[in-house]
Amino acid sequence: MSLVSTVTVKVPATTANLGPGFDCIGAALKLYNEVKFTRLDAGGLIIQVSGAEAEKVQTDESNLLYQAFVKLYQYIEQTPPSVKIEIKLGVPLARGLGSSATAIVGGLVAANQLAGSPLSELQVMELAIAMEGHPDNVVPALLGGCRLAATSLTGWEICDVTWHRDIVPVVAIPDFELSTSEARRVLPTEVSRADAIFNIAHFGLLLRGLATNRQEWLKAALQDKLHQPYRQALIPGYEAVNTAAVAAGAYGMVISGAGPTLLALADASEAKTVGTAMLNAWKQEGITSIVRSLPLDTQGVTIS
Ligand code: HSE
Repeated sequence: MSLVSTVTVKVPATTANLGPGFDCIGAALKLYNEVKFTRLDAGGLIIQVSGAEAEKVQTDESNLLYQAFVKLYQYIEQTPPSVKIEIKLGVPLARGLGSSATAIVGGLVAANQLAGSPLSELQVMELAIAMEGHPDNVVPALLGGCRLAATSLTGWEICDVTWHRDIVPVVAIPDFELSTSEARRVLPTEVSRADAIFNIAHFGLLLRGLATNRQEWLKAALQDKLHQPYRQALIPGYEAVNTAAVAAGAYGMVISGAGPTLLALADASEAKTVGTAMLNAWKQEGITSIVRSLPLDTQGVTIS
């Protein structure tokens, strides 16, 4: 078998949780990181990064893409080849849009290609979930669309979640970062039965609301008691942006992943107005943001 010497992978951004679906649901968005791996004859590691915030990315062995790359070779019990990694960043870092999932998925998928595809998609997915610690970003980054992940008796069950075509995700990405570890540290380790029931009910409603675009279901469904109440204090202006989004016609607003990006869901006819309202609300709080309507990516990671 002759092994390829170059592989390019394009991995979508993701938004996790969608309010009540903490750590189990996520959707891929049309915003991408692209990475080219080239096998080197001489030893060593070269990492080159371009795009917004490129200077913040590690370019040594601690780089997450490279760590994922090495992880796959360790799993198949082979020595990783020397490589040059060229990264084109489109997904902002530490903003709740799955930038670390793009690195984990990108590194694993590229390594699997360069190694001659020894692992199945399912095996790559399981490695990615183990590296990230939760499935809700890496699964849609790999597969595309909106995905629900639940443990089965032997591993994971993944199901695709129907997303009505008129529901548009509108993201407001602020100019400050929030690390996932910090946003997880503020969460309680135990929750009350009342809060658990609240989330079960609202998550069921969310799944039906996403499938039907039924306004009253979605308006109620985006509420959550497991993570958002604890995280809001980490995101200045949260209440103002939420109020503005809803007043402009959004069904509701949630924290994208661990934040600080805020995500409104709106009917396509309202998306532009909602975005402008979110941008202005944050501006009045002294926070600069970038607002975009990002349709769902349906392909997941692509390899060329
Ligand atoms: N479900 C995760 C969280 C997503 O909310 O902490 C962040 O990566």
